[in-house]
Amino acid sequence: MKDTIRQLIQQALTRLTEDGVLPAGLTPAIQVENSKDKSHGDFASNIAMMLAKPAGLKPRELAEKLIAALPANPSISKVEIAGPGFLNFFQNSDALAQRLQKALADERLGVRKHGDLQRVVVDLSSPNLAKEMHVGHLRSTIIGDAVARVLEFLGDAVTRQNHVGDWGTQFGMLLAHLEENPASAESELADLEQFYRAAKKRFDESEAFADRARQLVVKLQAGEAECLRLWQRFNEVSLSHCQEVYERLGVRLTPDDIRGESAYNDELPGIVQALRDKGLLTESDGAQCVFLDEFRNAEGNPLPVIVQKAGGGYLYATTDLAAMRYRSRVLEADRVLYFVDQRQALHFQMVFAVARRAGFVREGTDLEHMGFGTMNGADGRPFKTRDGGTVKLIDLLDEAEQRAYALVKGKNPELPEDELRGIARAVGIGAVKYADLSKHRTSDYSFNFELMLSFEGNTAPYLLYAYTRVASVFRKLGKSLEAIDGDLVLEAEQEQALAARLAQFGEVLGNVAEKGQPHLLCAYLYDLAGLFSSFYENCPILAADTPARQQSRLLLAALTGRTLRQGLELLGLETLERM
Ligand code: ARG
Repeated sequence: MKDTIRQLIQQALTRLTEDGVLPAGLTPAIQVENSKDKSHGDFASNIAMMLAKPAGLKPRELAEKLIAALPANPSISKVEIAGPGFLNFFQNSDALAQRLQKALADERLGVRKHGDLQRVVVDLSSPNLAKEMHVGHLRSTIIGDAVARVLEFLGDAVTRQNHVGDWGTQFGMLLAHLEENPASAESELADLEQFYRAAKKRFDESEAFADRARQLVVKLQAGEAECLRLWQRFNEVSLSHCQEVYERLGVRLTPDDIRGESAYNDELPGIVQALRDKGLLTESDGAQCVFLDEFRNAEGNPLPVIVQKAGGGYLYATTDLAAMRYRSRVLEADRVLYFVDQRQALHFQMVFAVARRAGFVREGTDLEHMGFGTMNGADGRPFKTRDGGTVKLIDLLDEAEQRAYALVKGKNPELPEDELRGIARAVGIGAVKYADLSKHRTSDYSFNFELMLSFEGNTAPYLLYAYTRVASVFRKLGKSLEAIDGDLVLEAEQEQALAARLAQFGEVLGNVAEKGQPHLLCAYLYDLAGLFSSFYENCPILAADTPARQQSRLLLAALTGRTLRQGLELLGLETLERM
């Protein structure tokens, strides 16, 4: 709809230019927004205010001329001038009803695929192995998965890349610890977290142990067979823990999506050589650096991206450069989205700049850091266990399900046990995911079980429940949401409001895809659920006064249900038919 309005305005501008009202050569970006208040129409544009100056007119005068020059369109019932010169567009409800009728007949709910397909690489999850995944990896995994799903739905070719940290000094520590305790190895490995902590403790307390650990890293990097074998073993154990978490979370990540840091090992010397050949390298204290003029420290000196240490070792940045080259040149990505902690923002700005300068990425590849804030505890401080340790993700998910179980059982004690378990899973896991997704990506947020499991407010339980309410209407009727036909007629105010919002689904998904901000979809679904509630209270469905009205309201309810279900699925939430 906004596109249509933009085109209409463009045509009016062309006419006014031909008539000499507007000077030739203006190419304004025409902005059309959704109106907040329905009494001001459905859409608004500030174009008259933008162009008043070059036209030499008062904004309201230009607005009048624009309205006169706007071609008629069946979707628009009227256009009004408001305030200092806004153009307010009112949508024709018959045209809106027709649009929704088409959406109802479409599996994709009328959402068009992207015009030109893009190849998008999504870098997500990417935990460091050798430790178990902890809450810090939750956000990247959940947000990245939701955005990937939306991109796929819109028709993009998405490649998920789990850039796991599988190559680093931590492995020397583990190898040294294993060497000290060969007998207990297998049993201790079962609890990798424990094993890691024990190794770390030895590393911190014993100089000799630390030396041995460093020696073993060198051996590992030189490709010593036994070291490699054990390293592989650590990774297998660690990755199987990750996979368990992904499955629990219902996140679409498989072993095929893993391309860890070690996959780029062989390319690192070539990356450094390429930078040298381009004349970008400077040696500083024996380390190989690229200095970037546009990034400076507090004293005003250029900051380096270090790509090789004095001892010859490569760094996180070097691997990222190799990964960028692979993603742009081999995977031929049009966009690469990095779902990584906001605290790495400078790292990404800098390696993006180096990659561009060195020509590692094609001109046509967009590199976008989709940073996110820190997950804090309910007290607003970084999320920790009571004794100050890191919280294991799997424990967190267990607790979420247990709490959801108690909650649901309290409400429905008569439900059979296995159904209760199923509901507890959808609600518990859904609550953890939704709480994360519904926050603005870049802000920090407080993890709070009580809030996320509340049936009120913008939460998973509220939305899952809203969907079951729609589903129950159709259950009573003995029909599926897909099996409803008839004519949609928008009469009541609540019907109009719900319909107008339903028609925005595609636009919202487009914004999520463009900005990598799933909270926009959450806010939309929450709003939709609220509009459905007022519709449901004010417009009886099964008790409607005429069969035609009943049919029309059923159509509206069916589309709401299907939109909620599709939206929740794109967020990675499991929906329930009843709860
Ligand atoms: N393993 C890193 C960490 O936990 C995140 C990697 C993100 N992806 C990347 N291409 N750098 O901090």
